[in-house]
Amino acid sequence: MSSFRFFCIVALACFLSSARAEQRRLSPDNLLVLTAATEDTDGFKRFLRTAREFNYSVKVLGLGEDWKGGDVARTVGGGQKVRWLKKELLKHSEKKDLVIMFVDSYDVIFASGPEELLFKFSRLGHRVVFSAEGFCWPDQRLASKYPEVQSGKRYLNSGGFIGFAPDLGAIVQQWKFKDNDDDQLFYTRIYLDKNQRTKFNMTLDHRSRIFQNLNGAIDEVVLKFERAKVRVRNVAYDTLPVIIHGNGPTKLQLNYLANYVPTAWTYENGCGNCDLDLVFFNDIPDEEMPLVYVAVFIEHPTPFMEEFLDRLTTLNYPSSRLRLFIHNNVVYHERHIQRFWERHRSLFPDAVLVGPEENLQEDKARTMAVEACKKDPDCDYFFSIDSDVALTNPDTLRILMEENKSVIAPMLSKHGKLWSNFWGALSPEGFYSRSEDYIEIVQGKRIGLWNVPYLTQTYLIKGSVLRSKLSQVSLYVNEGMDPDMVFCSSIRDQGIFMYVSNRDEFGRLVASTNFNTSRLHPDMWQIFDNPVDWKEKYIHENYSRIFEDEKNFVEQPCPDVYWFPAFSEKMCDHLVETMEDHGEWSGGNHKDERLAGGYENVPTVDTHMNQIGFEKEWLKFLKEYIVPVTEKLYPGYYPKAQAIMNFVVRYRPDEQPSLRPHHDSSTFTINIALNSKGIDYEGGGCRFLRYDCKVESPRKGWSFMHPGRLTHYHEGLPTTKGTRYIMVSFVDP
Ligand SMILES: *[C@@H]1O[C@H](CO)[C@@H](O)[C@H](O)[C@H]1NC(C)=O
Ligand SMILES: *[C@@H]1O[C@H](CO)[C@@H](O)[C@H](O)[C@H]1NC(C)=O
Ligand SMILES: *[C@@H]1O[C@H](CO)[C@@H](O)[C@H](O)[C@H]1NC(C)=O
Ligand SMILES: *[C@@H]1O[C@H](CO)[C@@H](O)[C@H](O)[C@H]1NC(C)=O
Ligand SMILES: *[C@@H]1O[C@H](CO)[C@@H](O)[C@H](O)[C@H]1NC(C)=O
Repeated sequence: MSSFRFFCIVALACFLSSARAEQRRLSPDNLLVLTAATEDTDGFKRFLRTAREFNYSVKVLGLGEDWKGGDVARTVGGGQKVRWLKKELLKHSEKKDLVIMFVDSYDVIFASGPEELLFKFSRLGHRVVFSAEGFCWPDQRLASKYPEVQSGKRYLNSGGFIGFAPDLGAIVQQWKFKDNDDDQLFYTRIYLDKNQRTKFNMTLDHRSRIFQNLNGAIDEVVLKFERAKVRVRNVAYDTLPVIIHGNGPTKLQLNYLANYVPTAWTYENGCGNCDLDLVFFNDIPDEEMPLVYVAVFIEHPTPFMEEFLDRLTTLNYPSSRLRLFIHNNVVYHERHIQRFWERHRSLFPDAVLVGPEENLQEDKARTMAVEACKKDPDCDYFFSIDSDVALTNPDTLRILMEENKSVIAPMLSKHGKLWSNFWGALSPEGFYSRSEDYIEIVQGKRIGLWNVPYLTQTYLIKGSVLRSKLSQVSLYVNEGMDPDMVFCSSIRDQGIFMYVSNRDEFGRLVASTNFNTSRLHPDMWQIFDNPVDWKEKYIHENYSRIFEDEKNFVEQPCPDVYWFPAFSEKMCDHLVETMEDHGEWSGGNHKDERLAGGYENVPTVDTHMNQIGFEKEWLKFLKEYIVPVTEKLYPGYYPKAQAIMNFVVRYRPDEQPSLRPHHDSSTFTINIALNSKGIDYEGGGCRFLRYDCKVESPRKGWSFMHPGRLTHYHEGLPTTKGTRYIMVSFVDP
């Protein structure tokens, strides 16, 4: 062991002495990073943040100047950068020991620190090193002039290079071209000139030891998670590059990598860039809170619309600082808007409502809403929300504002599904593609702020961003394209980052595919597609307390007859209204064609669940909500939760007021009161003959549960006034 260590020390010493000539001088104090940026973009901020993490000293050239270097994303250009560099390097031409690295900024991040950078530079054994890529650009005819390489990328990329100040200085002093001439071509020509290449001792970083250009190399690059940091690893050359450059069309891949590298998200510390620029609004008086234009889009029939609209009024935000815009494109929802309006118009006196009669296309409506904020210099934020977004966290708006991002969305998904309001990646055609971390983010296994290429359904944009970078951009309209696709590509084209946050629980997406508006209360049928919304609307608010606090939420009025909260008032009302609307009550005769045998021994005036097409939903209700209660109250019995006889009974003094004593053909029966004694009817109730025990004051929404066919011989007591409704189900017949 000790001899092994001795050997290592000797080897290291040998290496150090052989490289000593250059090594001695390569200290981080003698490193200067230069970059060029005319604007303080999101990408630039990210560049500086990663530089700061490693204590690079960075000098920025060109900030605040007009960019005259052409549209480098699409064509050639970039000469302006060389002009700035030429001027800057004049100052350093005498500093023999100074190492200068030039890198682009908007699409570059640092993955490691100056020591490693300088170590790798010295190992490359040249005075000037340019980054390399697999494409020969901008003049492909030059490709054959490049020296051959055994392995690695052959062609020069000018987005990153490093070298000694005098050499780099001498190179850029040769620049005598226009600002929109191509910088890469300039450096390429010098490199391809063998005399110059030798004179300046130039080489390319063929195997991405320092510079990783992503264009053409996406498949070579993976994230390497270390404990408290994350690197990019090039698996083609087994290197850990220091500079990551999203050149060409790889900006989104860089965004993905930069969600982790170097410490944006790590296994050890989770989100590392979450609390960096938080702003707080806690102590700000209501009237000084930012002004938010809230735009609501109802573009297709959507379940739980009343609840959606009500949530707009329960946001924890002063309504005087909200400007409401609603585009409702659905005739069916006019009733909901109307009702909302009657109740809440005073909260939103300046609201703008565009109804279906105006025939405004979705893209035009979205444009109208966003333009209103753009045009109002007082508009601080634009908050867009579609009708299928259930924002159950009333602090959502504040939380998003606190993150201080140009564009940010709360992460939402369909309950228990992977369907969400963001995409982690784009396919080459610009459509959905699943990023490697998508599932972890949706399921909350990685928590943070995620820079993503696509957001939809709800997001917050800064008004200042709309009025600056986006002022000339048509955000939603592009013939034949989905407005959300247009929106996201417009934002991406401006180099603006879109974030999705899963740092808080914000709510969920509502599924609207199986929403049948020809039903009277279509939400009742949503138990499968939107189980959480269904529960909130239709299950008694104290139902879950049965399991926490049995003493107070389960009663036993007669032996083995349990009584517990089941339905909400709404469920009771909607069920009764649906039955009455259906209007096909049985006559209460023994002959009953709805039954297999055609004969009912103890007939009632009733409507079966299958008559209104609610049987599947009812069985789901039994399974989800009744079975757990049964298992708790009759331990050891595991219901199959089958039931054929599920019906609403109507008792009236002049129709059928009562029911003679009988057994039920069930293992156990549930019997839920659907309306209120003293309000809707008088009399009623139930008597269990064997115990001579009566329950005379049923509670609306509460259910009885009692054994069916043996012990609990019972009768329905006469209703003396009004109409009484109960829901009965014979479980496990
Ligand atoms: C950067 O500098 C600060 C202050 O000098 C120091 O605390 C920190 O450890 C340095 N970080 C790195 C990565 O060297
Ligand atoms: C570059 O310089 C190093 C020493 O600094 C030398 O060993 C090497 O041969 C030179 N390479 C070329 C191609 O001139
Ligand atoms: C919020 O963002 C803006 C624009 O990026 C920036 O100027 C400002 O300093 C940020 N505020 C805080 C508190 O970080
Ligand atoms: C929609 O509801 C109507 C009325 O209840 C019903 O007749 C129809 O079958 C339903 N359609 C679907 C696709 O379920
Ligand atoms: C639920 O229980 C609480 C307290 O036990 C009670 O105040 C409340 O009215 C109950 N809710 C309903 C809908 O009955």
